[in-house]
Amino acid sequence: MKFGHFDDAHREYVIDTPRTPLPWINYLGSEDFFSLVSNTGGGYSFYRDARLRRITRYRYNNSPLDMDGHRIYINDGGTIWNPGWQPTKTELDSYSCRHGLGYTILTGEKNGIRAQQELFVPRGDACEIDRLTLENKTDAPRTLDVFSYVEFCLWDAMDDSSNFQRNFSTGEVEVVGSAIYHKTEYRERRDHYAVFWANTPVTSFDTSRDAFCGVYGGPAEPEAVKAGHCSNSVAHGWAPVGAHHFHLTLEAGETKTILFGLGYIENPVAEKFTAPGVINKARAEAMIARYATDAQVDEARKALAAHWDDLLSALQLDSGDEKLDRMVNLWHQYQCMVTFNMSRSASYYESGIGRGMGFRDSCQDLLGFVHMIPERARSRILDIAATQFEDGSAYHQYQPLTKKGNRDVGTGFNDDPLWLIAGTAAYLRETGDYSILDESVAFDNDESKAQPLMEHLRRSFNFTRTHLGPHGLPLIGRADWNDCLNLNCFSEHPGESFQITGPSEGPVAESVFIAGMFVKYGEEYADLCGHRGLPDEAADARAAIAQVEQAALTAGWDGAWFRRAYDAFGKPVGSKECDEGQIFIEPQGMCVMAGIGKETGQAEQALKSVEERLDTKYGVVLLQPAYTTYRLNLGEISSYPPGYKENAGIFCHNNPWISCAETVLGHGDRAFEVYKKTCPAYIEDISDIHRTEPYVYSQMVAGKDAPTFGEAKNSWLTGTAAWTFFNVSQYILGVQPTLDGLKIDPCIPHTLPGFTVTRRYRGAVYHIRVENPAAVQKGVKRVTVNGKTIEGNVLPLAPAGETVEVTVVMG
Ligand code: BGC
Repeated sequence: MKFGHFDDAHREYVIDTPRTPLPWINYLGSEDFFSLVSNTGGGYSFYRDARLRRITRYRYNNSPLDMDGHRIYINDGGTIWNPGWQPTKTELDSYSCRHGLGYTILTGEKNGIRAQQELFVPRGDACEIDRLTLENKTDAPRTLDVFSYVEFCLWDAMDDSSNFQRNFSTGEVEVVGSAIYHKTEYRERRDHYAVFWANTPVTSFDTSRDAFCGVYGGPAEPEAVKAGHCSNSVAHGWAPVGAHHFHLTLEAGETKTILFGLGYIENPVAEKFTAPGVINKARAEAMIARYATDAQVDEARKALAAHWDDLLSALQLDSGDEKLDRMVNLWHQYQCMVTFNMSRSASYYESGIGRGMGFRDSCQDLLGFVHMIPERARSRILDIAATQFEDGSAYHQYQPLTKKGNRDVGTGFNDDPLWLIAGTAAYLRETGDYSILDESVAFDNDESKAQPLMEHLRRSFNFTRTHLGPHGLPLIGRADWNDCLNLNCFSEHPGESFQITGPSEGPVAESVFIAGMFVKYGEEYADLCGHRGLPDEAADARAAIAQVEQAALTAGWDGAWFRRAYDAFGKPVGSKECDEGQIFIEPQGMCVMAGIGKETGQAEQALKSVEERLDTKYGVVLLQPAYTTYRLNLGEISSYPPGYKENAGIFCHNNPWISCAETVLGHGDRAFEVYKKTCPAYIEDISDIHRTEPYVYSQMVAGKDAPTFGEAKNSWLTGTAAWTFFNVSQYILGVQPTLDGLKIDPCIPHTLPGFTVTRRYRGAVYHIRVENPAAVQKGVKRVTVNGKTIEGNVLPLAPAGETVEVTVVMG
């Protein structure tokens, strides 16, 4: 069952009912100001950091769900409704929500009045614009009371939701005409405030929640809206809000618009006040003036559309498969940009206060967005590298506002260092910009310890190399990619956990997955050494890689698949010797992607085992059999009921690893089958089972052991976005940036007769036509560039500005 449809021409998903199984959201903003907006107008806004600069309040895990948002109310002679249905839930005569690229349009109609709320964050400005268009579709004049409403957060979202003894006394506002200033804490050393304005003179306003909603009213039945007017309340402490009221008449057939803006202003300290205690509003006034007319807002919308056109033009596909095209051309890339902006910090499942930017996560996200915004990828790499320690290990997370490592979460995830190589190598393959390796980057954010980025990569590589366990496999530390596989959490003294101090001390748990990573990303590191004129270092690195590869093929092999790990007692995890958790997905994907066991047949066997033991109709589960009891020696993974999360859920992030791995072995049919099983456009029809947004990936789908098999959770912020796009564009369609240029090496279903890809690459544009006359799955017979046949399948680099015509014949 579906709740909407894709509108490819407008590049939107159109939702036809407000009663989606869960709120289906969109993200506005891609620079500093961000808003989350649901299909019923719920959501919140923040500036750069969802924890430290939260502008509006949002109550997670609320009942009823999704009550806080960007609200418009209409009181039409006592009938009170919202264009997006929530929070009054008054039945609408018609409803639609269009989620597009950085904008959302909610349209509701009731008793002949049509109200459209168009929300977006303009390029280059720290504000959200809401354009309300009201139309009287009847042939008689209509008089309405129209209200806007937002509830301010007192900036630090964590403090806001806990420190009430203080916060109930700090709120301050100021109202000038139709501009409501939220200036809580500005008098202290803070230099920022928010402004919620309208371009139309207000009839009345409110800034106190108690006055607008009533103490026992709430947003579903605000007393001011019921009364038909606000009371010009000025909040002193308690809960400051912004509400505008307009008493207006629409003639028969008349349309009127009101423009609202929610802006964030930062004044340098010297500019804070114009007189003692009077906030300096100059920047806010200038912002308000930039969006005073419909024409200005139209221009801002156009600039936003042009921005997206430009971003997406970096890679466009025409395959004849409408679903594949829509995912590749739009939704994969869109989700990749959102994960670039948010990492794992703010969604409807990530509270914005729990996590900052992940070291591992952000490095992987790079794989999905580097082709669109290479310059921003560059600075992201440098930010991430600055949170690395001198020994090559890293803070697991950092706060986006301060860019400092997050001490609460700490370190000890032993896969982290290698992801830095993965992200940087992807950047170099895309751009050829080796100057990044010479950039001086701090260790542990300490400039006095700065070293060139190349040295950071060297220490990443050496960290793994010098942290090997008794089987010659890398030590796992607190965890590897699988945060919940905590093999060193066992202690002789329950309740204590070990500190990871070095290879010869403490726990000895090892990871076959990191071994796969070391082979894959170690090779990429060795390639970089080669390109940097360091052949000895490259050879030395390859020797270390060969040893770990050997360990993976022997100690890491279980007979029919790769083992997952060895626990702190030296016992295998992910082995037929185990009663549960006999086979895991991660090492099969990563080791085969790295080419381990390709020659020996082990890779082939490993993927066969995945298909036999882990595959389901909704995707590949993480492990089998699911753990039915809690295991102290395995940690959090066994704390989930069977079928959920890392305990045998379909963890969407590592499904593309299997698809990539299948292409390494030339299995285009199977690679595409794995891709399709979790791909949103292909499973739109089961939206009632899947429940999360049908246009983006979720982190997890409940596995076959779960009572809710097929139900997804944690939409939007997942490494699945990057990995899937990386998989489909580079492994399946086979358009692969390498250090030497674009390589074309497709691995497709044999039924696909061909496709074309337009790819912007290092300043030139490549029109690539792939033909598959012999219906093969892999193999390139001939490549012609501008009509001339070339040797091999790496396209010669074209000068920036040139357009290159490429034909690739498979066979
Ligand atoms: C985290 C990833 C992790 C994955 C598997 C996600 O929630 O963001 O860093 O690899 O879970 O545990």
